[in-house]
Amino acid sequence: MKGVVLAAGKGSRLYPVTHITPKPLLPMANRTTLFYVFDRMKEMGITDICLVVGENEPHMKAALGDGSALGINLTYVRQTEPKGLAHAVGFAEEFVAGDDFCLYLGDAVYDSNLLAYAEQFKASGAANLNLVQPVEDPRRYGVANTVGDRIVKLVEKPQNPESNLAMAGVYFFGPQLWEVLPTLPPSARGEYEITDAIQTLIDRGETVIAGIYNGKWFDTGTLDSYLETTQFLIGDKNLIADSAKIEGKVGEKVVVGDGASVECESIEDSVILPGAQVKVSGAIRHSVIGGPVSIEGSVENSILHGDHKG
Ligand code: DAU
Repeated sequence: MKGVVLAAGKGSRLYPVTHITPKPLLPMANRTTLFYVFDRMKEMGITDICLVVGENEPHMKAALGDGSALGINLTYVRQTEPKGLAHAVGFAEEFVAGDDFCLYLGDAVYDSNLLAYAEQFKASGAANLNLVQPVEDPRRYGVANTVGDRIVKLVEKPQNPESNLAMAGVYFFGPQLWEVLPTLPPSARGEYEITDAIQTLIDRGETVIAGIYNGKWFDTGTLDSYLETTQFLIGDKNLIADSAKIEGKVGEKVVVGDGASVECESIEDSVILPGAQVKVSGAIRHSVIGGPVSIEGSVENSILHGDHKG
């Protein structure tokens, strides 16, 4: 089985830090976000991985190279514009070359092994298996209606969800997907949706099944979810790199990256990115800061970066 990782989004909900560092490369508990993806792929025996990149291509290639240092073989393809997940995966067709493959969203973090789902998919003979998870507010997600383990209907971000099962960002496909991609119209939000592609498979009579994921799943794309994921990964200890310097009272849930320095009155529930030079006269709370940043007063619920690019 091959792997395809979608990493071409703009990461706009984490601007401005994602102007400097593409979201898939952003440190998550001082470790590149994509490294968590590659861990889960390797546990499934997947080492041939295609990264779908966008404008971030040069940065991604410089950071990850051919993947050999990470124990994987990386191939890059470039999505011309971020026109949706079904559009993005289309660029990987030649790489997949008719094999089964695991499609993985590059900003998703899972805390446990996914091998059982890969095996369930292979044993089922289905055209597609999707990881799903019950959530409190399904309106932010693709939502699946199931009968037994079969998915019978899928809707992307419904206003009135008919189920609480969210599509959780890992999909296993056979080659049937390639036939339906060219038939898709754009959705109401102007994107080519992977949920519409899967609905088309269902409409054509293909077997599409759900694998309920009971572990922890994080979509890391917003300030709140980025900090929540960080907190989960560090547990109840702060994570301060050996080469980092902090002056000020250090509370809970603090991550400070390599070579960063922080001067503040106090800091809690915040991430200081590697190399950031941060001076804040007041408190830093629930924020992500890349440097250099110098502020009179406090910083709360903020994403800050001294150097703006793009
Ligand atoms: O998080 C799970 C949800 O992910 C699913 O429940 C939804 O059905 C699915 O559509 C998707 O929704 P999002 O709106 O959260 O997707 P997002 O735009 O955040 O993109 C997910 C990843 O795919 C992200 O790493 C960027 C990448 N991407 C996104 C787009 C739109 C691309 O590589 N190319 C694209 O064109």
